[in-house]
Amino acid sequence: MKILVIGGGGREHALCWKIAQSPAVTELHAFPGNAGIAEVARIPKLLDDLPETLCDYAERMHIDLTVVGPEKYLALGIADRFAEAGLPIFGVTAAAARLESSKAFAKQIMKEAGIPTARYAAVQDLDTGLRLIHSTAHYPLVLKADGLAEGKGVAIVEDAETAERELRELMGERFKDAGKEVIIEEFLSGEELSLLILTDGVSWRPFTFAQDHKRAGERDTGPNTGGMGSYAPVSIGTPSLLARCEERIIKPLLATLAKRGIPYRGILYIGLMIVNGEPFVLEYNVRFGDPETEALLYLLEDDLVPYLRAVANGSLGSLPALSWHPGASATVVLASGGYPGSYRRGLPITGLDAVDPAVTVFHAGTARDPNGRLIAIGGRVLMVTARGDTLAEATARATDNAARISWENSFFRRDIGHRDLRRP
Ligand code: AMP
Ligand code: GLY
Repeated sequence: MKILVIGGGGREHALCWKIAQSPAVTELHAFPGNAGIAEVARIPKLLDDLPETLCDYAERMHIDLTVVGPEKYLALGIADRFAEAGLPIFGVTAAAARLESSKAFAKQIMKEAGIPTARYAAVQDLDTGLRLIHSTAHYPLVLKADGLAEGKGVAIVEDAETAERELRELMGERFKDAGKEVIIEEFLSGEELSLLILTDGVSWRPFTFAQDHKRAGERDTGPNTGGMGSYAPVSIGTPSLLARCEERIIKPLLATLAKRGIPYRGILYIGLMIVNGEPFVLEYNVRFGDPETEALLYLLEDDLVPYLRAVANGSLGSLPALSWHPGASATVVLASGGYPGSYRRGLPITGLDAVDPAVTVFHAGTARDPNGRLIAIGGRVLMVTARGDTLAEATARATDNAARISWENSFFRRDIGHRDLRRP
């Protein structure tokens, strides 16, 4: 079977690494890929990454299954385009991708389905928003641009003055159409968890719970990033919590989407806030989480390919629950100095040859320079991933090995897993 993976981040490297181990796979292609993906997959030279171009390539190469990483391709309708051409794809339609590309749509669906989430108002114009901000006493509040904003469209504000400044910013020039509508919601206080499920719209198979570390600095300080590390499983992610997520979140969501005539075949990433032990949905993503996926696929015992295929053809109900290696896994992200702000590109990376062979380094923002040297070209660059009999062992192994790799001004967090490691 020939598989094409679309994307070029750490999550896609982890997907390629896992897919390449499947006995069912004869050829693995990826686009646009990165220096790490190039070691396990064939990266074609294509003029662009538009859905048409990728569809033509899949057709020409007789690809049996295309697996989509980033949400931008899904929001552009790549799955619809492939379906029209009769090509199997793992990834949701543009209509379903609105769960991520429009927060107002996601909130509306949750309201309709009775899914626990923060109370909110959606505002389409500045005056209505300002009136709301100045008439409420319920601070802190959370302001969110409706559309995709590369993680920069969320502001937590403590008072009306800051809220007004942020609302003007979100609805202003910088956010373009993404800020035409803004969600103003209640602040939920608790612990965040990531729940990823594979689903064909009828059946679902959950991954074990994972936890991301969004802030750039240790002890969760500094600015928000795409994620500086992850681990799985998470001790508060109990079978009882999963059962409540299935009853209150997954079943009503799939039923409501079906009622609206929106099929969902792909991965659903549920961003949860656990408030006094109960799950609330902060957001949905229609893609694998990054860096959660690296830790999760490292812990997954099963061949992923039959699951990807079953999601794409609607037969997931025939497959058993996913099975996991014992113990835990952890991912430590190495980033460029300055990230999530500006950073230098093109700096040579050293130390990869000193990494323990039992540890896997997934690549995100890497490339080869003309001399074949590995260079850092992104904010998040390498995801050092390890397993252990315990979380302490997995995080120590990932952290020790991350410390062997560096480039000018690179940095990483040494406290990945700190919440679980401190729990009695
Ligand atoms: P989102 O893109 O909606 O996941 O928001 C990004 C981040 O903002 C989340 O990962 C949370 O850390 C935080 N956040 C979003 N909504 C809320 C909320 N209602 N209460 C508290 N924190 C939130
Ligand atoms: N790790 C957060 C995300 O993938 O959105």
